[in-house]
Formats: sequence, C-alpha cells, structure tokens
Amino acid sequence: MTDKKKHGIARGLTNYGDADFSLYLRRSFAKSTGLSAEMLARPVVGIAQAAGGFNSCHRHFPELVDAVKRGVLAAGGLPLDFPTISLGEIFLNPTSMMFRNLMAMDVEEMIRAQPMDAVVLVGGCDKTVPALLMGAASADLPAVQLVGGPMLPMSYHGERLGACTDCRRFWAKYRAKEISAHEIEGIEGNLATTAGSCAVMGTASTMAALAEALGMSLPGTAAIPAVHADRLRAAEASGRQAMAMIGTDLRPSRIITEKSIENALRVLLAIGGSTNALIHLTAIAGRVGVKISLDRLNAISDETPILVDLKPTGQHYMSDLFSAGGIGAVMRELKPLLHLDCVTVTGETLGERLSGDTFVDRAVVRPLNDPFQSQGGLVALFGSLAPNGAIIKRSAADPRLFEREGRAVVFTSLDDLAVRIDAPDLDVTPDDFLVLQNAGPKSGYAMPEAGYLPIPAKLARAGVKDMVRISDARMSGTAYGTIVLHVSPEAAIGGPLALVRDGDRIALSVSRRSLELRVDDAELAKRRALHRPVTLDNTRGYARLYLQSVLQAEAGCDFDFLRKL
Ligand code: FES
Repeated sequence: MTDKKKHGIARGLTNYGDADFSLYLRRSFAKSTGLSAEMLARPVVGIAQAAGGFNSCHRHFPELVDAVKRGVLAAGGLPLDFPTISLGEIFLNPTSMMFRNLMAMDVEEMIRAQPMDAVVLVGGCDKTVPALLMGAASADLPAVQLVGGPMLPMSYHGERLGACTDCRRFWAKYRAKEISAHEIEGIEGNLATTAGSCAVMGTASTMAALAEALGMSLPGTAAIPAVHADRLRAAEASGRQAMAMIGTDLRPSRIITEKSIENALRVLLAIGGSTNALIHLTAIAGRVGVKISLDRLNAISDETPILVDLKPTGQHYMSDLFSAGGIGAVMRELKPLLHLDCVTVTGETLGERLSGDTFVDRAVVRPLNDPFQSQGGLVALFGSLAPNGAIIKRSAADPRLFEREGRAVVFTSLDDLAVRIDAPDLDVTPDDFLVLQNAGPKSGYAMPEAGYLPIPAKLARAGVKDMVRISDARMSGTAYGTIVLHVSPEAAIGGPLALVRDGDRIALSVSRRSLELRVDDAELAKRRALHRPVTLDNTRGYARLYLQSVLQAEAGCDFDFLRKL
C-alpha cells in the first residue's frame, strides 16, 4: 500500500528501513498518550494552531482548539493539534513581516511531515492567517481556515474604543498635546480589552475576510467576535468539515484559483481592506502559480465600490459587521462582480453559498447601487519614482492631497526618522512630501509598518492632520492618511526612492495613478553611482536566508524558492 492510500497515523512513516517496524514503533509511542487502538485507527485531522504567550490576540485559542477537536471527534476522526510559530504583531522585532515566511515554511513542512489526512488552520493575528494559507497551499492537503475572530470594542469615557485605529487617533492627539499623559495612560488600558484580533478592518480582519472570500473558511465565520459562542460553534463545524474533506479533491489547489483570488481581491476592495492584505494575497496566489497584476488591481478597484462602513475607512467595528450580516452580506452585494463557480471548502460553489437572503444592517453594509464610497480603497501608482509600483489606500486618505506636487523632505532610514522628525529646526511645511528610504523588504528592517510617518511635532501642534508620505515600508491596516507605500524597487536595492534628496520635487496624481520624481536623468545617474546596496555582512541564520531570498512587494514578499511562479 502506498503512503497515499494509508490514512491517519500510518501516513508518512518515519524511515527506519523497515516500514512495519516504523508503524509498530509509532503506534507504541502514540499509545503512550493513552489513546486506544480504535482511536489510533481513525483518520487524523491535524490542527495547526498559533497560540503562544507572546500573542495576546490568540489567548482564547485553547478553548477554540478544544471546540475543533470536538467537531473532529464527533465526525469519527482523531484530532491532533500541533503548535506553529505564533506571530504576535506587537511583540516581534524588527517586525512580524520578517517571520511570515518562516511561519509559512513551518506550516507547510509540518503538514507534510506529520501523519494527517486533513488540517484545520487556526490563526488570527495579522501575519498568521496568510502564513497558514501560504503553507497549506504549498502542502496541498485538504485544509479549513478557522480564524480567531475580532476583539469587541468597549466603552470608555462615553465612547467606544477598539484597537487599533483608535490607538493611532489618540496617540496623534497626545503628540499634538491635545490630551495629557494621564489621559493617554487611561486609554492605553482600554484599547484592547478582550481576546481576539484588532477590532477594525485592519490586516487581521481583512485576511479573515479574504480567507472566507477565497472559499477556504466556512461561510459566515470571518467576522464572528472572538468571545462570541458562535466562534466556538464555527470551530466545531470546521473540525467536522475537515473530516468531510478527507479523501476528496477539496484541496487548496482546487479552491485557491485565479478566479477565487480575483474574488478575494474584489472583497479586499469592497471592505476597504488593509494594504498589507494585498501583499499577503499576492504571496498566497504565488503559491498556486497565480500572479496578481497591479494593473488588474487598478481596473478592479475602479469598478468595485466600498460597501462597508468600518474603521479605519468609516465608523463601525468588526463586531458591527458581524451583526450586520458579515462577509456573506458583502459578497451577496458583490455577486454580479464575482466568479460564482468557484468551489469552496464545503464542496458547494460560491454561487450556492451566496444563494438566499439574510438580514443586512444597511448602516454597516451598503447596497451595491448605493455604496459607502463609489470606488475601491486601494490603487497602484506607477512612475519614475516607482517603476514596479506603489500602493495608496485612497479610501483612508485625504482627497485634497491627491493631485499635487511637493518638495521632498527625506529621511534616509528609520533611525534618521526617529532622530529628526520632531526636531524644532526640521525644514518642513504642511505642503511638503515626507519621504522615508530604506524601510523595504531587503533594508535590514524587513519592511516594517513604518509608512505611517508621524506628522512632525511642530506641524502636529499647529493642527496639521495629514501630509503626503512616501516610503518602501508598509502601513498598519488600522492606519489612515495620504500615505504611499510599498514603493518598488525599494531603496535598499537601488530603486529610484534611494536617489531622492531633500528639496527634490515629487508629483503625485492618484487620478492618473502616477508618482514621478522630477529630477533629470543626468543628476539621477550621478546619485545612482554613489549608491551602496545593503550587504549580507554580519547576518546569519534566518535573517540571512530572508535577505537573500525575499522578493519585492509586487511579488508578495515571498521567498523566491517558495513560489510556484
Ligand atoms: Fe493582533 Fe492586531 S495586533 S490582530
């Protein structure tokens, strides 16, 4: 019997040169856990779970994993959970982005190496869901994505607060001296008060929505709050569904296709989702051999309105979206624009999944013919400053800044930014463009969420709330502002961004999708000759692998050797 025909713990035997001995030895060790022979003969559902003491967003995972196990057991299987690397967004240095690919490799290899017939992927915080989906797509075993769900916002001094758009809003007020140190301390303790991922349409919520849009999660599960009893029922149902998928062709390679990826892109735009999610979706697509073109993004963005009124683009929280009908309500509105023949984890098509009507709260999920905003949230910009593209989240930006030329105020690194941004003698006006260099994937900072450059203190105190900011960094999905991100090629490898100097003129036109550096070619050639790329000196281990192999934003920042393209 080949390994493929074997199931459960008989799959993928450890190689001792004697298969029967390997199975006997494995059974004897498995029996040491107290499992009966009857249980050990069952199909195995692995549960890849990213819990950890350094991940506050996942603190409810033990209960969630128990519920998945309940579902697997009820369906006649044996659930075996295993830990993955856990990426707690706020707890990692230099940034969780550096470790997404490491987690994806961990997930892929452990799904492949351990004996399981299907897997439930349990993640939530920003990078964990893309890493799980990337790894599962490459391993290509039947897989169901279960997300941890969003936190609940809580009332504090008469207003609802929720991580993390409110975190930034109050920090900007504190920097502008509009609130005191005492007040910010009180707010600090009331921004994130329950288990779960950030309460707004940040990266975690966006990725949860995209997992459902791709068909990799059960319907209606993306927006269930982490602490809601339905979240546990979704976990139980995910365990059952993983059992139902064993032996079928409902593998990621059948579910994550060019069409379902385009559906996910539509949903990303319609929910005003995170810029980070574009990188992650590109990386997931790359694992199944699908390329996301930024030109296609622009075309789709123009014809896909924003339907959801959620922070940071709007005013509501994820728990409101859940009560309003969830991602299913959004996708029902988008039906004329979606590929309805895509298959989902349940085996039903997307069209079947979206048939029938449910309650929709129109204050949160707008109809297609009366949207919240008429065009999608994200667009790509191209031009001499970003030959391979850059991204702006126009839905969370100030349209008054969309068509203008400005003088560059350049920060050559994050360290330079930290030292000078609040200097009283910084030569800067509200009409200038703040430019941050060397914060891209290969910069040594691993593309942190630093693109949301703070407004220089002296301007913030004068009431300036937004300025054009340009970098090769990323931005938190919970942030807002006229911020151009993911400039490619990045400065560290000698992209045009590296050649910008203080006082240069830069022209931004969101309507023309352009970002131009107005410096003549001869001058740029002189500057280019002086540029020194980042070297691998003094790097070792994973950091070295990362610097050697990470691709630019338009390739999803995946490693060159992991993509199928
Ligand atoms: Fe974990 Fe926002 S910090 S989801």
